[in-house]
Amino acid sequence: MLVSESMPCAPLKIGPLHIWPPLILAPMSGVTNRTMRALYRPFGLGLTVTEFVSSNALKYGSRRTMEMIDQHGLEKPVSTQLWGDDPSTMAMAARLVRECGADIVDINFGCPAPKVTKTNGGSACLRDPDRCEEIMRAVVAAVDVPVTMKMRLGWSEDALVYVDVARRAQCAGVQAVTLHARTAKQFYRGSADWEHIARLKRAIDIPVIGNGDLDDAHLAMRRMQTSGVDGIMLGRATLGNPWLISQIADLMEGREARPLPSPTDRLRFAIVHYRAMVDELGEARAVPQMRKHIALYLKGIPGAAMLRERIMRIEGANETLDVVEETIARVESQALAA
Ligand SMILES: Cc1cc2nc3c(=O)[nH]c(=O)nc-3n(C[C@H](O)[C@H](O)[C@H](O)COP(=O)(O)O)c2cc1C
Repeated sequence: MLVSESMPCAPLKIGPLHIWPPLILAPMSGVTNRTMRALYRPFGLGLTVTEFVSSNALKYGSRRTMEMIDQHGLEKPVSTQLWGDDPSTMAMAARLVRECGADIVDINFGCPAPKVTKTNGGSACLRDPDRCEEIMRAVVAAVDVPVTMKMRLGWSEDALVYVDVARRAQCAGVQAVTLHARTAKQFYRGSADWEHIARLKRAIDIPVIGNGDLDDAHLAMRRMQTSGVDGIMLGRATLGNPWLISQIADLMEGREARPLPSPTDRLRFAIVHYRAMVDELGEARAVPQMRKHIALYLKGIPGAAMLRERIMRIEGANETLDVVEETIARVESQALAA
């Protein structure tokens, strides 16, 4: 709904939190660690969410998992996402993530990955709405901060349970629902069906956040306005292109969307991202994780395909950064010569 010409949308209210702009970075496992979230936040995000965290791994005190829930205070507010199928383990995990700085606890009923669904977690919970409700009630009772939930449409096309599960969420005291408008069986095939998101918005009173395939600022605003959702969540399209976030934030604040940076300025930011990840994770963990990011930041650079192949084979951070810096120098000197 258009709030006014100069301010086309309102803050997203999740319990006592007023989130502005109503623009959220999607949780992405293996991608949205705290360094990445802190780097992307200033582009104009109102809220960031951790990668999903296994409640069972927290129960057993896994060191890597504890790292994932440790907030360093650069993001406010921040939501920590949990997955699991056991209500009491989820409640215990919720208390722990709250102690570690979560302002919101988000429950994952959306992950379609077999390693998660084979233990009845993530989207597999949608096969049992009663179990979803027990989990939500247990988590809401465990913490003094808002609890939200993110889900898909259902397990499969013939079991679209999203309205039922969202109504149960509302009754259980969940304060907002995010819908990625695909079924679990679809994984990422086909396209997200925003008609379902609009339907969910009409069906419940708590805030609805729409998610799926938003890869252009004007499209995102149209989707938000036609579905009537209270907020939108962006995932894959921000990778290698956090400037999309700024463009949408511009439109949300009633300004024209700023132009995208030049390909070489994108690469300059890629270097900042790379260095931050090496500082946080150390070279051995950062180099493989950053390959996919650099590949995306290279979009629009002449010879990008060959550069991607080269970077995939490099094992060292300095060597990778040398390639990126040489590329900036080459592209800029070619532009000057032209
Ligand atoms: C690499 C990757 C990891 C993801 N990990 C999570 C996750 O941990 N928790 C979650 O709720 N969704 C996860 N998702 C789903 C996204 O949050 C989002 O719902 C989905 O990508 C659709 O949004 P998009 O079209 O804007 O990317 C992941 C998606 C990707 C591509």
